[in-house]
Amino acid sequence: MQAGILTLDDYDFGGKTVVFRVDINSPLDPKTKKLANDNRIRKSSPTVKELADWGARVVLLAHQGDTEDYQNLISLDQHAERLAQYVGRPVEFVDDIAGPTARERIRGLKDGELLLLNNVRYLSEEVSTFVNFVKLTPQELAQTWLVRSLAPLADCFVCEAFAAAHRYSPSLVGFAEVLPAFGGRLLIDEFAALSRVKETPKHPCVYVLGGARIADAFSMMEQILDEGTADHVLTSGLNGEVMLLAKSYRLGDATERLIDDKGLTPFVARARALLSRHADKILCPSDVVVDDGGRRQLALSDLPADRLIVDIGELTVLRYIEVINKAATIFVNGPAGVYENSVSAWGTERLWNAIADAPGYSVIGGGDSVSAGAKFRVLERMGYVCTSGGGMVRFLSGQELPVISALRRAANRYQERKA
Ligand code: 3PG
Repeated sequence: MQAGILTLDDYDFGGKTVVFRVDINSPLDPKTKKLANDNRIRKSSPTVKELADWGARVVLLAHQGDTEDYQNLISLDQHAERLAQYVGRPVEFVDDIAGPTARERIRGLKDGELLLLNNVRYLSEEVSTFVNFVKLTPQELAQTWLVRSLAPLADCFVCEAFAAAHRYSPSLVGFAEVLPAFGGRLLIDEFAALSRVKETPKHPCVYVLGGARIADAFSMMEQILDEGTADHVLTSGLNGEVMLLAKSYRLGDATERLIDDKGLTPFVARARALLSRHADKILCPSDVVVDDGGRRQLALSDLPADRLIVDIGELTVLRYIEVINKAATIFVNGPAGVYENSVSAWGTERLWNAIADAPGYSVIGGGDSVSAGAKFRVLERMGYVCTSGGGMVRFLSGQELPVISALRRAANRYQERKA
C-alpha cells in the first residue's frame, strides 16, 4: 500500500482476470496516422509484462484522442503491435470494447494472455461524463454500460493511467467502485515523484515554468506559491513575457499581438496579483532574444522589441542557473523559448542541461518539455520524467484527481472487508 492506494504487491494476480487501464494516448503523424512517439506505450509495458509473467489474464483498456481531439481518435490496433514488441509477448487486439466479441474473447483468455480492447473514447458515456455534460456519482459510473459489461468477467482492476487521472469517467473510476482496485507501478511512481515536488519537497524548491500553456502555469503558480511549496519560480517562455507585461514593460507589437491573439491578456492582471504577493519569489527574464536570422539579445532597457521574442537571453539563463544549482528540489514544465528552432533553442537547452546536472532532485513533465528533453538528450539525467500532462498540472494545482480518490476508496473497502 502506498499513499492509501493498494499496489501490485498487495494481491496475487496469478490466474486472475484483470481489467488494466493504461494511458497509451500517443502523438500521431497527422498525415499517416501512424504513432509518432511511443513513449507512453514503452513506459506502460513493464507492468503489463509483470502481470502477464505472473499468469494474469490481462484485459487492456485505453484511449487515443477524444471527440475534441478528433483527428487523433483512432483505433488501437497499432498500439497493440507496439506493446507486443515491448512486452515480448503477443497482444491480441479486438475491434470491440464491451460488446459480445470482446466479452467472448475475455472469457476465453488463458493465464498470461494479453488482450487490448478498442479505444474506450469511442463510447459516448466515457467522454460525456468527463467533460461534465453529465454529472454522475462514482456509483453511477459503475452502472455504465462499459463497467456493467466487463466487471462481472474480471477479478480485479489495475489503473496505470496517471496521465488521465484527472478524468472522471467509467474506465478510470467506475471499475474501482465494484472490483478490488490497485495502482499500477507507473501510476504509483508518477504519483510519488510529483508528491516529492508538491507535498514533501526538500527546500529550496524551485519551479521552472515556461511554455505557452499559461492557464496551466498560473494555476500551478497560484497554488505552489500561496501554500509555500515553491521558494522560487523561474519564469520564461510566454509565461515570462506575461510577467514582464505585468511589470509594465512593453514587449513590442509582434509579441503583444501574439499574447492577445492567444487570449492571454487577462493573465496580466493575475500576474500582477501574484507579483504583489510573491515579488521576491517570482524571477522574471532580464533579457530576451529576437530572431533576425541569428540571435539578437535585448536588455529590458532595449524594449519594446522590433520583432517577436523567441527566447530568453544569456543574463537570464545565468541568473536562473545560479538558483537551480542551489535547489534541493526542481520541477520543470514549459520550454523557455521556441526550442524547435535552432536560433531560439539555446535558452531551453542551457536550462534543461543545468537542471539535469544540478545536485537537487528534478522532475520534468509535459509533452513539449519532455520532447525538448529528448532533443537535448538530458532525460536520462533527470530525477523523474513524467508521462502525464493534464493529470500532473491538476495535481500540482492542488486539485483532486478522481482516479486517486477512487483507488483510495477501493483500498479502504478492500481492507474493511479483509478485517
Ligand atoms: C493526455 O494525453 O494528457 C492523457 O492521455 C489524457 O488525455 P486527455 O487530456 O484527452 O484526457
